[in-house]
Amino acid sequence: MLPLKLLITGASGLFGYRFAELALKEGFEVYSGYSEHLVNVGHPFKLNVINSESMMNTFSRVRPDIVVHAAALTDVDLCERDKVLAYRTNVNGTRNIVEACRRFSAYLVYISTDFVFQGDRGMYKEDDMCNPINYYGYSKLEGEKLVRSSGLDNLVARASVIYGSRPARGKVNFALWALEKLRKEETIPVLVDQFVSPTLNSSLAEMVVEAVSRWFSGVYHMAGATRISRYDFVIKLAETFDLDRTLIRPAKIDEMNWFARRPKDSSLEVSKAISQLRHKPLNIEEAMRRFKVEAEGFA
Ligand SMILES: NC(=O)c1ccc[n+]([C@@H]2O[C@H](COP(=O)([O-])OP(=O)(O)OC[C@H]3O[C@@H](n4cnc5c(N)ncnc54)[C@H](OP(=O)(O)O)[C@@H]3O)[C@@H](O)[C@H]2O)c1
Repeated sequence: MLPLKLLITGASGLFGYRFAELALKEGFEVYSGYSEHLVNVGHPFKLNVINSESMMNTFSRVRPDIVVHAAALTDVDLCERDKVLAYRTNVNGTRNIVEACRRFSAYLVYISTDFVFQGDRGMYKEDDMCNPINYYGYSKLEGEKLVRSSGLDNLVARASVIYGSRPARGKVNFALWALEKLRKEETIPVLVDQFVSPTLNSSLAEMVVEAVSRWFSGVYHMAGATRISRYDFVIKLAETFDLDRTLIRPAKIDEMNWFARRPKDSSLEVSKAISQLRHKPLNIEEAMRRFKVEAEGFA
């Protein structure tokens, strides 16, 4: 049997590059869509999700069986400042993907976020009410709705604060930023009052590859299995990498000069993924061990 053709959007991103690498290893024929930052996994191709015509052309050439839509405008403050761009990318872009998938009867997987929730209580389950408090969350939720009402075979996988051992698109992620600062012995302010479910990109990639291989449908929380404050997360990092934890200064959300509001507790309940996936969400200790191995392999 020929390998299934898998097209990923956002393959140059923090989740996308790990996912593309793993999907390739698992035997999929991988088409890696990037917008500005070339990625060298599978068959790379340039794709702007906003441009429906060029996207249809791409789909006509590739004829994907599976589409993993991870491309998004993920800069939360930029989404708030430039709502038009956020809407075009995250909503219209997703609409274009849905239409292209319809045309080619592809199975569609949408990577979503904990920011669809209000964030006033945490440990959200898949069917809890969504009520985003910023435009990024709103635009991602609108994308979810388009996917879920598309009539296509579809899966929505929600993650939270993705981190990984390698920078993506020339940018460090939250964990790498903290490590870099601590290694330089710089003091860093980190929030004690924001709770999340930090998600290692390789673990998320593994869960999504498995879910895709088994043609899962519906909504799944595929995040880390530990609800933790950003502060305690960075303490874990410092312990794991034997760095000075006294450099980590407790800070509060109210001190931050963010343009967009942030949820205080958008942690995700992951028992559905735990019960159904062989690759389970990792608790923080398991994730730290794996992150260290991956970071040392990369350094
Ligand atoms: N990062 C997090 O903490 C987090 C948490 C929960 C959920 N998520 C979701 O997970 C997914 C992946 O996030 P990420 O952090 O891995 O992303 P990321 O590193 O910010 O990368 C964004 C990706 O989207 C692509 N992209 C942006 N605009 C595009 C456009 N108009 N057309 C085509 N591609 C475009 C970028 O391509 P170029 O770089 O080539 O321009 C890049 O590959 C997103 O859907 C996000 O909403 C992220």
